[in-house]
Amino acid sequence: MAEEMSTAVEGETKAEAYIRIGKEIAAIVAGETSHTARYATAACLLAHNFGPRFFWTGFYVVDPLKPDQLVVGPYQGTLGCLRIPFGRGVCGAAAATGETQLVPDVEAFPNHIACDSRSKSEIVVPVYDSNGQLAAVLDVDSAELDAFDADDQTGLEAICKLLLTA
Ligand code: SME
Repeated sequence: MAEEMSTAVEGETKAEAYIRIGKEIAAIVAGETSHTARYATAACLLAHNFGPRFFWTGFYVVDPLKPDQLVVGPYQGTLGCLRIPFGRGVCGAAAATGETQLVPDVEAFPNHIACDSRSKSEIVVPVYDSNGQLAAVLDVDSAELDAFDADDQTGLEAICKLLLTA
């Protein structure tokens, strides 16, 4: 039987929403060994809770065969680019530095990769596995300028931290 999918709750702050979604993701993926299943669960719940602000929500995964490249993983949204070299664009910068990238205006970001010209701002958060190795990055794009703030950064970082370890 399909579970009822969570969506935004009226009156909830963004910070409260991230805490609720994090608990939901942790409960759903507990004991799951597939990283793909974990990424797909997070992409789905985040996109459905924060849409339409979250125009594109998904993961670029470190390619085990080409470890200096990200390859697209589970996502919700319009067609994404397939591969991103480390250091290119916002996702590549997050992978190369290991640091969250919060970009209020993608046009102002050097080497930005425009998979969809409607994307105007984005946040990209690194995801580490239980050995502390970079496994992927979570990329969230918005069609609005300056769509992400410190609450999004804190909330998404907390979810990425638990995603492969919970
Ligand atoms: N905007 C990203 C590329 C991926 S897509 O937009 C889905 C970047 O510059 O890293």
